[in-house]
Amino acid sequence: MRTSGVFLLVAAWSLAGFGSCVAQETHFAAPPLADPVQPSTNVSALAEIMGKVQMRHIKLWYAIKGRSFDLVRYELGHLRDTFETAVILYRNIPVELIAAADKPLGGIEDAAKAKDAAGGERAYAALTASCNTCHVAAGIGYILIHTPTSMPFSNQSFGPGKK
Ligand code: HEC
Repeated sequence: MRTSGVFLLVAAWSLAGFGSCVAQETHFAAPPLADPVQPSTNVSALAEIMGKVQMRHIKLWYAIKGRSFDLVRYELGHLRDTFETAVILYRNIPVELIAAADKPLGGIEDAAKAKDAAGGERAYAALTASCNTCHVAAGIGYILIHTPTSMPFSNQSFGPGKK
């Protein structure tokens, strides 16, 4: 059974009653852990974390298209870590929105294990939809994510690679 760190965090929070955060205002970008008097310089802004998510989202697509399944799993691991960082720092993000983003990551992982590029593309579409669902909920629906149409990382190969 696949159990990601994000999922465990989400489950733990639900048990702890953090699910009730859903009703509050959707300004997820204010980290409740940050000290307002002495703001910590090492708390990454959510926008910066999202910049990393955006990069991984692009690389993931080209790894799926290139049938580079080891790379797909590598990128998935980092994408999960990045989402986890967001969840830890920004506890006011509604848990179901994080869970909705985590689910398609599992679908992509299953497809990578099965070396199923078409299945990976379908799960990728669900992932992209989950990005936009959260953005709409956060009042930033104008940050509209779609499948990449060109590869900005021209110095990296997205084919099967070397063993
Ligand atoms: C659980 C909620 C959530 C999910 C899921 C989510 N985002 Fe975000 N995203 C946000 C929030 C909130 C912001 C605004 C952060 C800010 O401005 O401080 C944001 C901002 C962004 C930005 C703008 C960053 C910038 O500085 O230009 C990009 C790009 C982005 N997200 C990409 C993605 C991608 C790609 C995915 C899916 C793979 C994704 N996001 C999934 C909540 C989410």
